Amino acid sequence: MISNGSQKLIRPLVRELHAYVPGEQPKIKGLIKLNTNENPYPPSPKVLRAVKNAVDGRLRLYPNPTAETLRVKLAKLHGCRPENILVGNGSDEVLALAVRGFVEPEGRVPRVPNRENPEPRRTRPSETVQYFTPSYSLYPVLADIHDAAKNAVPLHSDFSLPDVAELKSEKKWQFDAALTFVTTPNAPSGRGYKTAALEKLCRAQKGVVVLDEAYVDFANENALKLALKFPHVLVARTFSKAYSLCFQRVGYFVGPAELIAALDKIRDSYNVNGLGQIAAEATLDDLKYYRANFKTIVATRDWLARELTKLGFRVLPSQTNFILAKPPLFPAPDWLAKLRDRKILVRWFSAPEVRDYLRITIGTPAAAAALVRAARAASRIQCR
Ligand SMILES: Cc1ncc(COP(=O)(O)O)c(C=O)c1O
Repeated sequence: MISNGSQKLIRPLVRELHAYVPGEQPKIKGLIKLNTNENPYPPSPKVLRAVKNAVDGRLRLYPNPTAETLRVKLAKLHGCRPENILVGNGSDEVLALAVRGFVEPEGRVPRVPNRENPEPRRTRPSETVQYFTPSYSLYPVLADIHDAAKNAVPLHSDFSLPDVAELKSEKKWQFDAALTFVTTPNAPSGRGYKTAALEKLCRAQKGVVVLDEAYVDFANENALKLALKFPHVLVARTFSKAYSLCFQRVGYFVGPAELIAALDKIRDSYNVNGLGQIAAEATLDDLKYYRANFKTIVATRDWLARELTKLGFRVLPSQTNFILAKPPLFPAPDWLAKLRDRKILVRWFSAPEVRDYLRITIGTPAAAAALVRAARAASRIQCR
């Protein structure tokens, strides 16, 4: 970028920041979009009706500042009190609030000693955001934005969760980190984790633990009870994936009232837009519709995994609405291009642990069949 002198006005932290890179939202028509874990099915007709009916003179008014009706409904669903719920502009917002609310910024004291700071600066647990790799790639960006320290600890090579004894013996894991994020089921691997294993980890942590359950509706179990049991555990949920509502940006935390109240103090006053609140409320009135969709998506996922396996892909077990698969014959980025040439968009990440894989969102059965056809055609050309 050519600087016209404005650059120096920007905080060095922001100037140097590597921002989060969202998946592509293509402008080209006719692409089968399997790259951002969106739900292939529309919101329930009741939700569409509720949103349409709300597009009237009300738009001039501020929405309810605390998403009260939605919190009451969520509390009923989860068997807790509205004081245990914080709603955000997508779950991304509540994750960001957790960093701001529970982690001290490191400050700009250099870690490498110099004349002014002769002592090497050691990162304090109170300044640390901790997470496993690979997991949701937003966590390190949130830590960087906040000038917090990052402690990224690898999962096992099959993306399973190390147990507490292993974490203790390997020494890198910090049991006193101010904030620990666990994506469960994991993204981008799709692997589900046992609630019992998560409970052991939560018991061992002294700081706040956020269990990010963005994909949990496609999984065999969830860990919500931990957020209602421990004083330091929050569960993050979203309406984006299972509830077909990415566009409206609604996510939330469930957890101890004291933590929720603390985050409530630092969020924007009207952080959840009015139509989003209405859409989410109507969603909760029609859960039957969504539960039927989960079943179809899980069945399509299992079919796709079988078909890709027949073509030589190594498909990891998934408890989400996507699969992570190691393609045969040529490198994953080449597959990305070859599938795109055939109008199918999937996701590839450059991080070393996953660069040999493609992450494929589960679409409709027709989209899955189109993907299998495209993969078969690409393999055939290579094998000639
Ligand atoms: C693990 C995980 N958590 C949270 C989110 C954010 O979801 P939302 O749309 O609610 O901000 C995503 C979105 O991709 C995700 O993959």
